[in-house]
Amino acid sequence: MKHELVVVLDFGGQYNQLIARRVRDLNVYCEVKSYKTPIEEIKKMNPVGIIFTGGPNSVYLETSPTISPEIFSMGIPVLGICYGSQLMAHLLGGEVKPAEKSEYGKTETNFSADSLMFKDIPTKSITWMSHTDRIEKVPEGFKITAFSETCPVAAMENPEKALYAVQFHPEVQHTEYGQQILKNFLYNVCKVSGDWSMKNYINTAVNDVRAKVGEGKVLLALSGGVDSSVLAALLSKAVGNKLTCIFVDHGLMRKNEGDEVEAAFADRELNFIRVNAGERFLGKLKGVTDPETKRKIIGEEFIRVFEEEAKKIGKVDFLAQGTIYPDVIESGSGDAAVIKSHHNVGGLPDYVDFKDIVEPLRLLFKDEVRRLGRELNLPNYLVNRQPFPGPGLAIRIIGDITEEKVKILQDADYIFREEIAKAGLDTEINQYFAVLTSMRSVGVMGDFRTYDYTLALRAVTTTDFMTADFARIPYDTLAQISNRIVNEVNSVNRIVYDVTTKPPSTIEWE
Ligand code: XMP
Repeated sequence: MKHELVVVLDFGGQYNQLIARRVRDLNVYCEVKSYKTPIEEIKKMNPVGIIFTGGPNSVYLETSPTISPEIFSMGIPVLGICYGSQLMAHLLGGEVKPAEKSEYGKTETNFSADSLMFKDIPTKSITWMSHTDRIEKVPEGFKITAFSETCPVAAMENPEKALYAVQFHPEVQHTEYGQQILKNFLYNVCKVSGDWSMKNYINTAVNDVRAKVGEGKVLLALSGGVDSSVLAALLSKAVGNKLTCIFVDHGLMRKNEGDEVEAAFADRELNFIRVNAGERFLGKLKGVTDPETKRKIIGEEFIRVFEEEAKKIGKVDFLAQGTIYPDVIESGSGDAAVIKSHHNVGGLPDYVDFKDIVEPLRLLFKDEVRRLGRELNLPNYLVNRQPFPGPGLAIRIIGDITEEKVKILQDADYIFREEIAKAGLDTEINQYFAVLTSMRSVGVMGDFRTYDYTLALRAVTTTDFMTADFARIPYDTLAQISNRIVNEVNSVNRIVYDVTTKPPSTIEWE
């Protein structure tokens, strides 16, 4: 795949992936690389621009991440952000020192109108700052192009050498004109044409897959999640019925979900096998209460069912995997590839006899995968699906699992989701679901005493699912949800709303 490329060099900043996503949103392909990547390797990649991310360290300490100053004389434009801007100043002979006061949060910043970086933005606007050190003296050949009350060098540049630096974070939404500033760097400084789009991506990916697969057979474990669904749609476009998708329905999906997944693939050219294995899974889970044991049983049983079905097909040549870019990024903190181990169905490759792997989503961020899905005409309910644990409702039922409990939870969860969508909150809340606590307590229904389950509602706002806040659902909406669930679902007589953040809680209740 040949695209204009921007390399984002990661110095351990919390926004490294966000920078890359913003660049991609501006139709420029980019890759995140560790700051330890050898200069020779960067040269070989032939980037049109390089961006240094922020990071938590101080540039003047010996142990802090750094880079060979050669990077500034390769004739490739460089943009340093936060730590990256200080590193540029430090390495080129400027001065970086701890400021008397840290600058954190929204900051009024003044911009010089004649910088290429700040074209088409007002000379005064809000930026997002988060730093303790600051540039005290710019290197020779540089001029200051932005400042704030406490930050004398909020931006600096040496246009002759195409070196630019900003102390603030253009990638975060709180920086009012952040996206325009990044666009200016890409289009005014790096002079990109903007050749990265999902339409182009489909064409290239389809051709690449065809070239690799030839007449071979491809096998895919379809979970109904966003990644595997988009992968199925893309592969069916590329290789048609040389693709077989096996969808193991473990009976622990949300209400109607199994049918929805099946319906989405009914009209496509591919072999779709749905295995309704609900009873088999419930049998294995009978009496099991420990969440880790539940996960293990489901993982193992999944592989067994998949293997049985795969054997019926005979030898396959390729196994398709829905690996996406955040799974393969090398982080600046020096760790190798980051793998969401417990989130993936581990072990599949060992059980299936195949020649090679196809991973056409390997370069994409999650939001790009969703865009790709829309381009491929997948229905919104699949493309916008919330994260859903592989073991499904099994871990949202505390304690032992029975068919009855699964049904209660499916029905209650369905009402919850319906009401959230009706209230127009489904785009604001990133994940929301019901949990069957398996705790029972006394209630009254008409003239009768009841002894029924307590259901918990969980709804969170989050960007990365590593930390989360509970969603501030209006009381009236909660009242409506509670009312409907206790009236429409048997065996629930009490509803509680989870008001904890993550940490100290997690998003799921296991
Ligand atoms: P926790 O509960 O750890 O969850 O705060 C963080 C996010 O991960 C999702 N999750 C999973 N996703 N397979 C997945 O694909 C899994 O096994 C799994 N377990 C948790 C969870 O829903 C939340 O979004």
